[in-house]
Amino acid sequence: MEPGIAQRLLVATREYLAGFEDATLAGFLSGVNWSMDERTLPAKPLPCLHWLDRIYFMAAGDGREIARLLSENRNGLHWGQTYTEADFGRRFIENYGWLELFGTRGHFANNEMAGGFLILGPHIQYPDHHHTAEEIYIPLTGGTGWRKDGGPYVERPAGAVIHHPSNVGHAMKTSAEPLLALYLWRGGPLAARSTITGKAETI
Ligand SMILES: [Fe+2]
Repeated sequence: MEPGIAQRLLVATREYLAGFEDATLAGFLSGVNWSMDERTLPAKPLPCLHWLDRIYFMAAGDGREIARLLSENRNGLHWGQTYTEADFGRRFIENYGWLELFGTRGHFANNEMAGGFLILGPHIQYPDHHHTAEEIYIPLTGGTGWRKDGGPYVERPAGAVIHHPSNVGHAMKTSAEPLLALYLWRGGPLAARSTITGKAETI
C-alpha cells in the first residue's frame, strides 16, 4: 500500500467534490471541517474488491484518481459490510462492500458527516431501504439503476448527484457492470443500520 493512502484518498475526494456545481451538495459540504484526525485501522479486504479492476477501467474524468487509489491500495484499507448473508443472500454479500473514509468509525474521525465509497458487483440489487441520515450518492461508474420513494429505476451516469432526504426509501440495481459510488451521510446516527423494506430479487 502506498504510504499515506488514506490521506491521499481524502485529498482526492475533497478535490473531486469541489468540481461540482450543485446546490444540495454545496449545502452538505459547507459545514465540513476537512482537518480530520486519522485513525489507524487494520486492513480488511472483502471478496467484492476484485471488481475494482473493472471499475478502474470504467472510471473516467475526475473520478479516475479515486478509482486508481482504491484499486491499487484495495488490500490495505478497512472495508466493511452492514448486512449479512441472512439479509440478502450469499451472492449479495460476495458482491457488496463499503469503505468509510471519514465518519464515526472510518479512516478519519468525523462526528458530523460520514463519507466513503460503495461497491456493488454486476446484476446485484440493493433493495429498498431508508435511514434517518440525509444522503448524497455520486456514482463514479455508470450503468446502475437508482430509484427513490418507490419510483422507477432510472439509470444515472457517472458524476450524477443523487440526493436521498431523511427517511425516504431508495434502492439500486446494477446491470452488466459493477458500481463504485461516493456517499455522504449527515444528520442522523452515522453508523446506523438502514431499515430494509424491499426484498432482494434474483436479477
Ligand atoms: Fe442510503
